[in-house]
Amino acid sequence: MRILLGVGAGIAAYKSALLLRLLTEAGHDVRVVPTRASLEFVGRATWEALSGQPATSEVFEDVPSVEHVRLGKSADLVVVAPATADLLARAAGGRSDDLLTAALLTARCPVLMAPAMHTEMWEHPATRANVATLRERGVHVLEPASGRLTGADTGPGRLPEPEEIARAALALVVPPGDDLRGRAVVVSAGGTREPLDPVRFLGNRSSGRQGVALAAAAARRGAHVTLVAANLTVAPPAGVRTVDVETTAELRSAVRDAAAAADVVVMAAAVADFRPVGVAAHKIKKDGTGTAPTIELATNPDVLAELAAERPRPGQVVVGFAAETGDGDGDVLAHGRAKARRKGADLLVVNEVGPGRGFGTATNAVTLLDARGDEVGTARGTKDEVAEAVWDAVVPLLPRAD
Ligand code: CTP
Repeated sequence: MRILLGVGAGIAAYKSALLLRLLTEAGHDVRVVPTRASLEFVGRATWEALSGQPATSEVFEDVPSVEHVRLGKSADLVVVAPATADLLARAAGGRSDDLLTAALLTARCPVLMAPAMHTEMWEHPATRANVATLRERGVHVLEPASGRLTGADTGPGRLPEPEEIARAALALVVPPGDDLRGRAVVVSAGGTREPLDPVRFLGNRSSGRQGVALAAAAARRGAHVTLVAANLTVAPPAGVRTVDVETTAELRSAVRDAAAAADVVVMAAAVADFRPVGVAAHKIKKDGTGTAPTIELATNPDVLAELAAERPRPGQVVVGFAAETGDGDGDVLAHGRAKARRKGADLLVVNEVGPGRGFGTATNAVTLLDARGDEVGTARGTKDEVAEAVWDAVVPLLPRAD
């Protein structure tokens, strides 16, 4: 495959040398196009030696081969890492003032951008708007990782690890499968929030990454996908219908509406089990006595158990997730087995969660249980790989399509 690797002017440009290595070692033909300013961080010699190809930045080099048109048109995949605030702005604005932005305008293949910048720049409304514009146009903009930045500062803005960028980029060009062709699939993702007052809510740490990976994988395999998205911190994938929800009640209604005509329902969302009995009309204030308010909670309906019991469509496959930490009453799997029997889903994906595990992380390790609690498989790897493994387990459960 012909890959164009664009490199922006960020200190993380050195990580792109590792990314280049990963891509060439996987057998791809990679042409590096560094921006002029990025050469302050990593020089042209590094890119040319590692790729075995010229690494030009200007439109006026090698004019006879009209590189600024040819490079973009002949690429099967474009990866930009690091994508700086300036580069995102130039790409969103449709500029073509160097070889990389010109190539971005002529490329018709999937484009992935991996941003890296200081947190303030990433969070600035101008950058948010540029990212939104690029995503609307189908560019896959990764969320930056959180952690130590160039100086003493920390926060979102780090370039994701080269392995993660390579996997996400290559997943964009995996030839579409068709074992879910024509099937209607509903995936819930993210975490519900239950309002306490106009500014506060009870919520959880789910990013929605696993649900988004499931929705993207189902779409790649040919399904019509409805993603019920509860407060995602990642972008929903292209090519799926997204219904945004906030609370459990909204999620329940959106999932049930879409489930009426669905072949598969996957409940990957972290659904709040409890909600405050009443939502205060005004911000709850300190009462001046130092006494903390008591919040009375009501139990939310169990959307997964309801669906598994009701089966709105004959032959429908219902999949649940179990986020478990293990405790004195049993380990992760023991809790998973009990939950599988209690919920009645055809498949329960048991996922160990806790600090650095499951929630908000890029990788996952899961065990798949059937409705009796018997193990039918395990999967480990990126959330995309886990998603593929879940669909591999779902497909044989589907009634034959006529
Ligand atoms: N779920 C649901 N409705 C709820 C709670 C959970 O549909 N009110 C679904 C989740 O989407 C997930 C599965 O049930 O697919 C298990 O969620 P989990 O939070 O692990 O389990 P709980 O039922 O909340 O059980 P517990 O908190 O006791 O572990």
